[in-house]
Amino acid sequence: MCGIIGYLGDRQAYPILINGLKKLEYRGYDSSGIAIFCKNGYSLYKTKGKVDELEKKISSYKKKIKGTTGIGHTRWATHGVPNDLNAHPHVSNSSELIMIHNGIIENYHAIKVILLENGFTFKSKTDTEVLVNLIEYIKKENKLSLEEAVRISLNEIIGAYSIAIVDKSQPETIIIAKLGSPLALGINKKEFFIASDPIPFINYTKNAIYLKDGEMAILRKNKELDLRKIRDNYKLSPIINKLKINLKEIEKGEYKYFMLKEIYEQPKTISYTLRGRLIISDKIICVNGIEINKDIFINAKSITIVACGTSWHAALIGEYLLEQLARIPVEVEYASEFRYRNPIIDKNDLIIVISQSGETADTLAALKLAKKKGAFVFGICNVVGSSIARNVNAGIYTHAGPEIGVASTKAFTAQIAVLILLSLKLAKYRSTVNENKYHSLLNELTNIPKKMDNILKIDRHIHIIKNISKVFHNVNNFLYLGRGINFPVALEGALKLKEISYIHAEGYPAAEMKHGPIALVDENMPVVIIATKKGCYEKIIGNIQEIKARKGKIIAIVNEGDIQASIMSDYVIKIPEISEELSPLLTVIPLQLLAYQIACIRGKNVDQPRNLAKSVTVE
Ligand code: M6R
Repeated sequence: MCGIIGYLGDRQAYPILINGLKKLEYRGYDSSGIAIFCKNGYSLYKTKGKVDELEKKISSYKKKIKGTTGIGHTRWATHGVPNDLNAHPHVSNSSELIMIHNGIIENYHAIKVILLENGFTFKSKTDTEVLVNLIEYIKKENKLSLEEAVRISLNEIIGAYSIAIVDKSQPETIIIAKLGSPLALGINKKEFFIASDPIPFINYTKNAIYLKDGEMAILRKNKELDLRKIRDNYKLSPIINKLKINLKEIEKGEYKYFMLKEIYEQPKTISYTLRGRLIISDKIICVNGIEINKDIFINAKSITIVACGTSWHAALIGEYLLEQLARIPVEVEYASEFRYRNPIIDKNDLIIVISQSGETADTLAALKLAKKKGAFVFGICNVVGSSIARNVNAGIYTHAGPEIGVASTKAFTAQIAVLILLSLKLAKYRSTVNENKYHSLLNELTNIPKKMDNILKIDRHIHIIKNISKVFHNVNNFLYLGRGINFPVALEGALKLKEISYIHAEGYPAAEMKHGPIALVDENMPVVIIATKKGCYEKIIGNIQEIKARKGKIIAIVNEGDIQASIMSDYVIKIPEISEELSPLLTVIPLQLLAYQIACIRGKNVDQPRNLAKSVTVE
């Protein structure tokens, strides 16, 4: 996690860094800092809290910070609590080297012991301060240039990093390097922009280089980029990508929070996900990554889907879809568990990894492990060119556009839409679904954006959700229940509420209640229950009765025209009817809105919930 930023050129660095850090805050926001360099030295500012705090602190000095080279950092704490001392940039013992870092140095403790034995002292608890001092130690001991000292030091490191380092005596040079954590470099004639993703520099240049693992670059003012391999100093030719990001996609516009904007974008993003893939006139699904690997998909005896968080919930929906429609046995695994339990997989196995960011450390490690064992890995990713997207054997992008709110919403529904396409495609290959069912699902899929719009645009729905939020915003616990394909939606609803409102919430398969959780139900317990018509409707009615009998308060998601569940429930949110296989695309929307409204009433920062970060690039 953490966001890093840097600038080297002729412009004043401060505004570029501070505005860039604000755009990177989705990566972490518990402390931040910048260092700006000029011929006479450097100014260093850092503080606990969000980038706004840093900006306030700097403006209180009233002195204009001047300098055309600078580096900055927004932190998600790994080693050491969030405070001013642990905030980046970190400075070496001699005060000559200044560094920012995203990632984790796993062998930092052993290195720290050696440095302590050699007289080094440490102000912070971070692994970064250890690394900057290791570089200083190696540089001085061996009388090396900075770039050579960086290279040799990085070869001693176990872990993940993207770094930027400056020697105060050479303020017109920045050295950057990457292993495991993302790092983009923007190039515009004579200037360089460094950032964890290209969004902070998109206003200045559309030319970007994504550093690969094991690469470092020496950036010198007015000089050509010098790209090298960290291992052997081999000189590389940079590959420049033309960025195609639309600035509107990364602005909040009329919305108070990105999360709300992203919830409302879903009708549009689903049509982007389906565009060019669902060809309704020909009644076909075209997905290149599946078609060119047709045999692998047809012959797969089973599929394992690996993911984390919300993407893991999408994977559970994928399990249901692939088993129901394509009749392939599916296992779903948390990436963090999969990677450490020596899974039994080989070259005959098909693994699917799902990730919005494409940078989640555990999912990336699971992918690499599966590939090492010879399996074919198919990726479902949102961020184009991300590490996961680059490492899979084949894959499909969700095309949901940049998701900035920490709580995932539009990426989730886009992942489900892709899993529906995949399941239907495989069902067709394997002849496991009859023509009528296949065609009616394709038709229904084309109508999903309209049905989503219907939920989002009707004032009555929003009014009911706001009302429910007012009634329940002060409770300590919530239960979410669903059955079949809507059980993972219940899990997702509970996760959304936990993440942004800090209310404890649990999702369960509705019938599991009697095996324990029903003991929690009393007149203070709100129970959100997905009671749509298709699937086990009658059984759900039974589950509602069991909760009512214990005085629980029922908030039911039902279909328009529903009578039975509605009569029994305390609050009812109505959504359009749809086949069970597609229903999660609609049932999740009221749950996203409910979590959002409750968090707003509780006065929480919806886009930047405490302790979280958008992409979890540490394990
Ligand atoms: O980028 P990924 O999809 O790999 O991220 C996985 C999880 O970290 C992510 O879904 C997380 O759970 C979200 N905050 C959920 O809203």
